[in-house]
Amino acid sequence: MSIIYSEKDKTFTLHTKNTTYQMKVDSYGFLLHLYYGRRTEGCMDYLLCYADRGFSGNPYDVGEDRTYSLDALPQELPCQGTGDYRSPAVIVKNADGSYGCDFRYRSHEIQKGKYKLPGLPAVYADQEEGETLRIQMEDPATRLQVTLLYGVLPEFDIITRSACICNLGEKRIYLEKVQAACLDWLHGEYDLISFYGRHAMERMVQRVPVSHGAQVIGSRRGTSSHQYNPMMILAEHETTEDAGSCYAMSLVYSGSFKGEVEKDQYNQTRALLGLSDELFSYPLEKEERFYVPEVVLSYASGGLAKLSHNLHRCFRTHLCRGMYKDCPRPILLNSWEASYFDFSGDSLYELASQAAELGMEMLVMDDGWFGKRNDDNSGLGDWYVNEGKLGESLGSLIKRINSLGLKFGIWLEPESVNEDSQLYQEHPDWVLAVPGRNPVRARNQLVLDFSRPDVVDYMFQEICRVLDQGNIEYVKWDMNRSLADCYSRNTQDQGRVQHDYVLGLYDFLERLVQRYPNILLEGCSGGGGRFDLGMLYYSPQIWCSDNTDALDRVHIQYGTSFGYPICSMGSHVSAVPNHQTGRTTPLGTRGVTAMAGTFGYELDLGSLGDEEKDQIRSQIQEYKEHEALIRTGLYYRLTDPGQDPVGAWEFISEDSREVLVGAVMQEVHGNMTVTYIRLKGLPEGALYEEQKSRRIFAADALMETGLPLPLESREYQAYQLYFKRCDL
Ligand code: GLA
Repeated sequence: MSIIYSEKDKTFTLHTKNTTYQMKVDSYGFLLHLYYGRRTEGCMDYLLCYADRGFSGNPYDVGEDRTYSLDALPQELPCQGTGDYRSPAVIVKNADGSYGCDFRYRSHEIQKGKYKLPGLPAVYADQEEGETLRIQMEDPATRLQVTLLYGVLPEFDIITRSACICNLGEKRIYLEKVQAACLDWLHGEYDLISFYGRHAMERMVQRVPVSHGAQVIGSRRGTSSHQYNPMMILAEHETTEDAGSCYAMSLVYSGSFKGEVEKDQYNQTRALLGLSDELFSYPLEKEERFYVPEVVLSYASGGLAKLSHNLHRCFRTHLCRGMYKDCPRPILLNSWEASYFDFSGDSLYELASQAAELGMEMLVMDDGWFGKRNDDNSGLGDWYVNEGKLGESLGSLIKRINSLGLKFGIWLEPESVNEDSQLYQEHPDWVLAVPGRNPVRARNQLVLDFSRPDVVDYMFQEICRVLDQGNIEYVKWDMNRSLADCYSRNTQDQGRVQHDYVLGLYDFLERLVQRYPNILLEGCSGGGGRFDLGMLYYSPQIWCSDNTDALDRVHIQYGTSFGYPICSMGSHVSAVPNHQTGRTTPLGTRGVTAMAGTFGYELDLGSLGDEEKDQIRSQIQEYKEHEALIRTGLYYRLTDPGQDPVGAWEFISEDSREVLVGAVMQEVHGNMTVTYIRLKGLPEGALYEEQKSRRIFAADALMETGLPLPLESREYQAYQLYFKRCDL
């Protein structure tokens, strides 16, 4: 049993292999948080301290006891209106116009298996792998009910949180803020690690001390965004990759979100993560339910590497789905940086022949194959094949590509529309736009109103019509702008539109993966603008960034690796000078960087010389050799590329028999000093043979003093070293 209820103490204790989470129903029916951390036993309500504190309100039913205040107590679901003046997880506007809710414990249920969330992506686990705790609470004044959902995956050190809010009252209420997870720490000094960025430079790492005054990350863009990723890590100041306490909070959602951390007046820390409350005011009619997007929690006492291992394992095996979840992904060649909008059926065929000749496995036809789409100003929405441009039907092109032994993949952007399109001419009212106001354009396109089921249904049919034209085995699902003008003609309640949009997107994606179970989906939003766990539930890989520069990618993939499995990061070798940065890096370096992800190519193969082609052939062979290790191995960040001259990482198989190390030198100087990289996570006493030099190394020495990288007077050199354990 990983979930234990103690009748005597009224505590719920959730155990995973290495962690424990505890909460308590107190004598007033409030659900207080007691503990989250390394595994332990026993009731921990002794941690709670009560004092008469000025200006911290007391619930009415505590009577004269002025020492009881929710303003100072750790809670599972802090609500606005209870005398807790910290940021709440829930704000409700009641039918009478008043604000506030006051949930008290009613009952609970413990079940085998993990709960599911209708219409929303979530971590899954079967009867043996997971357990669910449902705690039902109710506001006696309004009969608003919330069922808190806790999923426990003991072997993964993962606890998930969600909730179902149900209006048992007679009249409509509004949810003004809902967040699935709150973590309250009674004391301690923490750093907040968050992942900020911009288009083509996503998920840079920021680590700052948590202090008085709220630190807020989030997105108001309707997508999870390039600018902040919906995950946070709280780590003690001393915590490093290899030691110390740290907590992850990751949101399984692809729309606007908010994450908040604040040290309060009593030096307690609160962290919240969930939906953004801006532009959010969600109506709940009598007996309607609202499912709160899930937050995944993990704790590690052994540093950030262990925390990432917990998350990687869980998401790779219990969030990703479909046929490609557990098998090698095809090595693809994407047409975008090869020819942008300028291609024909013949030029794609030519590209595919070269790709086949080099050992690649799939051709992806990117943007430009449909409607009137020869640049990014027109055509979106018109999902019919431009046979004039291709010079043939889609079916015929696919057959020709397949005849080369290559799979065929296609690019789509179903959520967007150009005004210069037939679809927009016919259905101008299908876009998100405020009547009487000109909409905000971005990339010269508008956004279709996916909060409307009729629009989703129509687009689904259109997309199926395309996908049924041949043997399409891969879809790149793109979304190239942020939402604005969040107004739907379908509802009076505009405060529901952004969330309903995401539900519409999930409905579409779910139908797509059900109807085409063999298609590999790759998520994308101008690269990594929707790199989140919600998308990962439908697409086991996501295009990590539009920036394919090998050096920048070291940083982008480093940041992404904290919260996301390596096999989720689409990563391609592209041409030099790089199209985004103008930088020239060696082909070998581009290969090593792209191999720390789901590997592919994105360049005009026709412009390569024979030597480069040979190098690509051996890169492909090398990747195939290590593919399983890269996909399933434990990943260690060996350096911080923001601090260190070298970006380096390691994969080690779970049985520790194989180790692959990648390293990219970021700097070169005159009379260079030697750079050493130290390996991690090897079993003490083991011996490893490096496969090129056939030299044998002691694991302890590799971890203690490391390996010197060769001294070379060339820029941006990279190294990939493969070791096999040889003492068994
Ligand atoms: C986005 C994607 C690119 C490419 C273009 C096509 O920017 O991230 O990879 O598909 O759209 O327009």
